[in-house]
Amino acid sequence: MSKKLEHEDILNLFREHPGDFVSGEEISQKLGVSRTAVWKKIRLLRDLGYSIDAVTSRGYRLAASPDALLIEELRSGLETRIVGRELVFFDETDSTNSRARELGDQGHPDGTVVIADRQTAGKGRLGRTWASPPGVNIYTSVLLRPPILPFDGPQLTFVSAVAVALAIRDVSGLSPRVKWPNDVLLGGKKVAGLLNEMNAETEGVRYIILGIGVNLNMEAAQFPADLRYPATSVALEKGETVSRLAFARTLYRHLDRLYLAYLDRGFAPIISAWEELCDLVGRPVEVDCQSRVIRGTVEGLDSDGALLVRTDDGVQEKIMAGDVRPL
Ligand code: BTN
Repeated sequence: MSKKLEHEDILNLFREHPGDFVSGEEISQKLGVSRTAVWKKIRLLRDLGYSIDAVTSRGYRLAASPDALLIEELRSGLETRIVGRELVFFDETDSTNSRARELGDQGHPDGTVVIADRQTAGKGRLGRTWASPPGVNIYTSVLLRPPILPFDGPQLTFVSAVAVALAIRDVSGLSPRVKWPNDVLLGGKKVAGLLNEMNAETEGVRYIILGIGVNLNMEAAQFPADLRYPATSVALEKGETVSRLAFARTLYRHLDRLYLAYLDRGFAPIISAWEELCDLVGRPVEVDCQSRVIRGTVEGLDSDGALLVRTDDGVQEKIMAGDVRPL
């Protein structure tokens, strides 16, 4: 009777008997632990937000699980092959990308996921910070080890953009769009940000971190005052809150499916999925590329993730970096 009882053991037992009572005796016998250990664990699970009924002579019943980003809940509902193979949850961390990098350096497998309730130093692009208050949003980083050359690394950014947009669509019924190179918009405002980092040598990629921040249930007052772009959250656009747990599961499912497609068939299926979600294909735009401004019609994505724009005098421009504005 000295076995260490994990949350997961007892939750799995409840899940085998959905809606039914399981006696303390049965739990204790099946898991090889004392009745006292069972009771203590039940108390702990309640503290974590699980609602567990206890009725004398019948035992315990899982009445409801919390919509918190609890690892047990996420694990039990994941229908993925690679993404989420290992799941690491933090109540608080500086940046999930930094944690994922450490796991990458330590050799954790393709598909390892880090997710946090809040970040104290969430990283945005161009050295900016990413607002990461607790209890409302998604902050996650996925460690991938694709067998590709460093040159192709940026292609994975489009995998995360498409996965985020489809997950938002599925849980909210809204129509998010992707904006080149790596934003996801709702109603023209930024709802998610992607920060991908790569560790590579000349012969190949060691790992890629897909850093994903989604403003799910953030309220208007929680956005930083100094934002340089219009931003929103799924809840603000939809008018009601969205389950973080349901969103995270949906996101990992799409990431897994798209990553498998990428490993199997390359960048082509990702390009077509991205182009379908991008309003600007076929439309006139202005691209600010720092040294010059290009005007033309968006033709789509090139095989390296560059934006292809046909200028008014018929030249096809391949844009590696810049700010795109519809005209
Ligand atoms: C952007 O500036 O648009 C990118 C924001 C990326 C934020 C996410 S939140 C999870 C992951 N961890 C970080 O520190 N940043 C990314």
